[in-house]
Amino acid sequence: MAEAASINKPNKSAGKNMGVYRAWRRDFPIFAKKIGGKDFAFLDTASSSQKPRVVLDAMRHSMEDHYANIHRGLYAYSHQTTNDFEAARKKVADFIVADSDKEIVFTRNSTEAINLVAQSWGRAFLERGDEVILTEMEHHANIVPWQILQDQIGIVLKFIKINKDGTLDLDHFESLLNERTKFVSVVHVSNSLGTVNDVKQITHIAKDFYSQIKVLVDGSQAVVHSAVNVKDIGCDFYAFTGHKLYGPTGIGVLWGDYETLESMPPYQGGGDMIEIVSYTESLFKSAPARFEAGTPAFVEAAGLGVAIDFVSDIGLSNIHAREQDLLRYANEKLQEVDGLNFFGEAPKKAGIISFTADWGHPSDVSMILDQCGVAVRAGHHCCMPLMDILGVDATIRASFGLYTMEEDIDALVDGLHKAKEMLG
Ligand code: ALA
Repeated sequence: MAEAASINKPNKSAGKNMGVYRAWRRDFPIFAKKIGGKDFAFLDTASSSQKPRVVLDAMRHSMEDHYANIHRGLYAYSHQTTNDFEAARKKVADFIVADSDKEIVFTRNSTEAINLVAQSWGRAFLERGDEVILTEMEHHANIVPWQILQDQIGIVLKFIKINKDGTLDLDHFESLLNERTKFVSVVHVSNSLGTVNDVKQITHIAKDFYSQIKVLVDGSQAVVHSAVNVKDIGCDFYAFTGHKLYGPTGIGVLWGDYETLESMPPYQGGGDMIEIVSYTESLFKSAPARFEAGTPAFVEAAGLGVAIDFVSDIGLSNIHAREQDLLRYANEKLQEVDGLNFFGEAPKKAGIISFTADWGHPSDVSMILDQCGVAVRAGHHCCMPLMDILGVDATIRASFGLYTMEEDIDALVDGLHKAKEMLG
């Protein structure tokens, strides 16, 4: 990620920009509500972000004012929703610097995008004994689809080890590469550790070893925090989801290099992905339509397009700088609480902090925090194998978004003091 900065870089701007940050927060109606008379300290953005008013308005407008199915109606409302859907595809393409909107496949979420690649590209091009390299910090969505393929065709899975600080051991990665390696699938930003992986370097290492190795980057947590350029990374596939990017649920994105997408068979069959159907056979459309069977989530896609406009207007570099300020602030403030153990201290991190407490289980701590109006995630974060490596069954995770304020972190620290009193 070009903009990822060291968390040690001094912050001179936070104070003078505080009015701007409060204005960003005011764009999210949920924060006007109080919980037990207090502001809602929402520190679970890595799970799913809150939604700005412009996204909510756009979706309601689409359903109230011109709702009609896309690609199927020769009337004005259908033209309008079709245009909004295709305009959103163009916005996504520009957002991640793809060559063309034809490289953008709309899916339900990143999980479906990765399953699509595993079942379409994987079943077409992998054979028994071929190797797929993942990392030890993958989310279940980038493990289980490959395990299904392991059962279906007998591929072999290998995992790049993580170092103590939560970075990837790239020497280990190089040692895993061999003539059976066909695919590398790696997370851009770890949802549990916050580590920003150097996916450009990882792609280069793979492609320098053998140019035909395909690389997928799971960017679910990355597109939210910094600008992403898929061409600069050099990967073949990039997946992300709308609901973490201040957009709706039910809409995700698979970017694929067009030649690669065109080489792949359909993932699901049905309407909208066919040219011709007879009782004996069907002819499929080109990408991306070939991978979009059935009525797509077109209202949600339009909402995602508006979310992309929203973050682009603020500026990903401004969001990145703000979240680095918050990360620094939280790292300092959490030192005030005794008995915390932190996981993931990579030099390049997104706004995600995972920790445990000597004096209480993450679930109990999280329930007490909830009573204080503080929402964090406690659990394995859909990374059970990683938790095994860390030697815990769960962590408490605080994650930040562009609407997070220092007061939310203060509320977390106050809540932790209270939890310690009650549980310690
Ligand atoms: N992937 C989401 C998380 O990290 C659900 O919480």
